[in-house]
Order: sequence, then C-alpha cells, then structure tokens
Amino acid sequence: MNEAWIAPEYDEQLEKLEIELLLEGLFRAYGYDFRHYAFPSLRRRIWHRIGLERLNTVSALQERVLHDREAFDRLLSDLVIPVTELFRDPGLFAYIREKLAPALGRLPFARIWHAGCASGEEAYSMAILLEEEGILSKSRIYATDINHAALKTARDRLVPCDRYEQYRKNYERSGGKADFALYVDGDPEDGFTLKRRLNERIVFAEHNLVTDRSFNEFHAIFCRNVMIYFNPELRNRVHRLLYESLADGGFLILGGKESISFTKYEDKYETWNDEFRVYRKIG
Ligand SMILES: C[S@@+](CC[C@H](N)C(=O)[O-])C[C@H]1O[C@@H](n2cnc3c(N)ncnc32)[C@H](O)[C@@H]1O
Repeated sequence: MNEAWIAPEYDEQLEKLEIELLLEGLFRAYGYDFRHYAFPSLRRRIWHRIGLERLNTVSALQERVLHDREAFDRLLSDLVIPVTELFRDPGLFAYIREKLAPALGRLPFARIWHAGCASGEEAYSMAILLEEEGILSKSRIYATDINHAALKTARDRLVPCDRYEQYRKNYERSGGKADFALYVDGDPEDGFTLKRRLNERIVFAEHNLVTDRSFNEFHAIFCRNVMIYFNPELRNRVHRLLYESLADGGFLILGGKESISFTKYEDKYETWNDEFRVYRKIG
C-alpha cells in the first residue's frame, strides 16, 4: 500500500453531482450539514479522504461512510480541521485587553461565546486574560464546536507539548501580565495541561452553527476562522444567528481574513477595529 495514490480522471459535472449526493447523504444519515460549505476546500478534503481510504470515486466514499460510522468519523475530522493556538493573533488579544475588557468589566455579568472553538485554546486565552483583568469571576465563557474529539481535548485542557514556546511568546506579545509557566501543569518536554481552575468558568458543548439555534444572549462572540469554510449564503445565515445572539452593544470578533462587509449584516455593526475585525452591534 506504499505506492502513491493518484486521483482518477473525473468528469467535472459528474464529480459535482457525486459530491452533492455525498453531502446530502451525510446530512440525512448523520445530521451534519456541509451542503453550503465552500466547494473548493470541501472538494480537496473529500479527495484527500478518498486517497487515504484507497478508494477511487466519491460514490465509493459515500457508500463507505453511510455504512460505517467510523469511516464517517474519519471523514468528519477531515472536513472540520481544528487548527488553533493559544493567543492566536497576539495583537488582537492586546487590543481586547485594552479596549474590550474594560467594557465587559462594567457589566454586572459578562457572557462570552467562542463559536467554533476547536480544541479550546481561544477560550482558555480569554479565561487567562479575564482573570488578569479581574473579571473572570463575573464572566461565563461558552465554547462550542461540532468536532467532539476537539472538544474532548479542550475539556481535558491538553496542549501539544511542541507548542509550549510558541504559546509562551504569543502570551507575552498579547500583553500577558504574569509568567506563562504559572498557567501550566506538567513538564513542557512531555506534554502539558493548562491549570484546572482556568476551565471553571468555561462551558464546552457541541453546537452546530448551521443546524442549531441560539442558546443564550452574549456580550461578546468570537467566531474566528470558521465562516471561511462557508459559502456566502451560509455565511449570511450564520451571521443572522450571531446577530440574534448578541446583546445590544455586544462585540463580534471575526478572524483576520474575515469581514462583516458584503454580508447582509454589515449595517448592523460599527467597526471598532478593522485590523483585528472587531465589530459592535448597533441596531
Ligand atoms: C480553523 S478552526 C478555528 C478555531 C478557532 N476559532 C481559532 O480561530 O483559532 C475552525 C473550527 O470550526 C469548526 N466548525 C466548522 N463548521 C462548524 C459548524 N457548522 N458549527 C460549529 N463549528 C464548526 C471546526 O470544527 C473547527 O474546529
């Protein structure tokens, strides 16, 4: 099985039809709706899985994943890659510390939602920041994703050991006020976990932005590097969910390559910081 696998020549229309049928099948059999995810990246990931399964056609993959739950789980983990970091984009977290944390601190109680949290690093970054700003005890952080393996890593507070140095530097660049080692248990050489107290104010849960409804009203919503995988129609649908889930004056934080512009909701926010994609709900 070592020889290189070569994707077969494919008729474009037929490929599109088979991918649509596969996505319809995933939705009807398992309830995961990828039908409106951006096509080029879906297509790439599907072919990657076809190669790993030593199959030749999209239909063969469909047959396998519909009959074999484990094969479906393998495909799912290709379709929802949980790439993330602690204090990813340190400049954003420095900005949050300076500008958003004081606004959140003035509230009697702050609810923050990390939608598409992957293995939880963004939520933990926020917990550390809020603790240092003295407002963690009156905050609740909700961190959700559709990838249950990633959520388990998040609940276990596991952080890959090879990223310790990078995370320490990110933390310092984000304006961290303490020694990063204080937030960590274990030996960075062997793998480490974040301190147990950090997830006391975090609720991790499965939530699908495409098929599930809002579950609370939030003062800040992070939805970073999630909607890049969605097509424009789905992006608008998810923006509606986020908008309806935000309190008046609440903050929406998108990923560095995302924007509220060209969505149906662009008039409903004022831009607080264009570089860091921070928006405030105005009406
Ligand atoms: C690239 S990660 C981003 C993680 C984190 N927000 C960050 O920026 O570091 C994208 C995450 O979005 C999640 N995701 C994809 N589709 C989703 C959906 N429909 N509902 C909830 N989460 C979803 C994936 O499972 C993945 O963990």
